Amino acid sequence: MMKIDNLNIMSNFLLAPMSGVTDYPYREIVKRFKPGLVFSEMIASRALISQNLKTMKMIKKTDNYISAIQIAGCEPDVMSDAAKICEDSGADLIDINMGCPVKKVVNGYAGSALMKNELLATKILESVSSSVRIPVTLKMRKGWDDNNLNAPRIAKIAEESGIKMITVHGRTRCQMYRGKSDWKFIKNVKNSVNIPVLVNGDINNDNDLDLAINQSNADGVMIGRGSYGKPWIFEELRSKQKFDEKKNSSKLKKEIILNHFELSLQHYGLDVGIKSFRKHLGWYSKSIKNSNEFRSKINQCTDKTKLKCFINDFF
Ligand SMILES: Cc1cc2nc3c(=O)[nH]c(=O)nc-3n(C[C@H](O)[C@H](O)[C@H](O)COP(=O)(O)O)c2cc1C
Repeated sequence: MMKIDNLNIMSNFLLAPMSGVTDYPYREIVKRFKPGLVFSEMIASRALISQNLKTMKMIKKTDNYISAIQIAGCEPDVMSDAAKICEDSGADLIDINMGCPVKKVVNGYAGSALMKNELLATKILESVSSSVRIPVTLKMRKGWDDNNLNAPRIAKIAEESGIKMITVHGRTRCQMYRGKSDWKFIKNVKNSVNIPVLVNGDINNDNDLDLAINQSNADGVMIGRGSYGKPWIFEELRSKQKFDEKKNSSKLKKEIILNHFELSLQHYGLDVGIKSFRKHLGWYSKSIKNSNEFRSKINQCTDKTKLKCFINDFF
């Protein structure tokens, strides 16, 4: 149980925003295992204000579940307008991206580049949080590089600007995804604010969970890649019981995968639905016997019925 401003969330294990992964079908599947919140993929605020069909589809509300939309950008006005559109579309929370390390995003001064420009970051935080009634939160990294570890300072600015929760991925922008997430460092962020702080990065099992919480003293965790092919990780961590040890786990697993596939087809249509589902099948089948053979079969298959048969046979 955790409180983000006026929002009560039932678990302090949250699904991280991931481009190309946490789309509507993925969020629908993960919600079955009751994470505290589900986050959308990062959405460009400029795309949001144009309200094109593809972007509006990306912010489709997760049915009957507390859900957050993450916005990216570097113009305070545009980001505020984008946040209002998300609020009107039913979002329960808006998250601001200051962690994305990708060149295309950073070169536009968005994502983690904002950590280098505290003045602009402040303007964005103030502008977005005052433009909507729902809570606004912030996700960032330790800093730009090892010489600029300013996450604790930005956290303080964020709290003063009306931000209601902070997530820190314990790497610098320059580390990209190399090395290990520095859970200890996140304690500095926790100590500098009174709003909830989440620890993020490399939390993949209950051992990581205990260490990350102990080292950071954070109020909760955000899990990204640890949910690949195992959306049930949120339930496992909560119940301390392995999914595979549950009664009927293989039957349930198959049902989840088929449900995920169906949602993907409904959301994207046949072609894109099949293509975008292949990576999930890769993750679902990882470390199962003969998964290489299975993957090469499904990667060539473009027929929905055949694919369902392959899934049925393999799982
Ligand atoms: C494929 C992929 C896409 C990501 N997209 C986003 C994004 O859109 N917004 C964001 O804030 N972080 C994004 N991230 C970062 C994750 O939210 C998270 O901070 C990072 O992966 C570390 O956590 P993990 O080890 O639990 O995955 C992405 C990560 C991956 C692997």
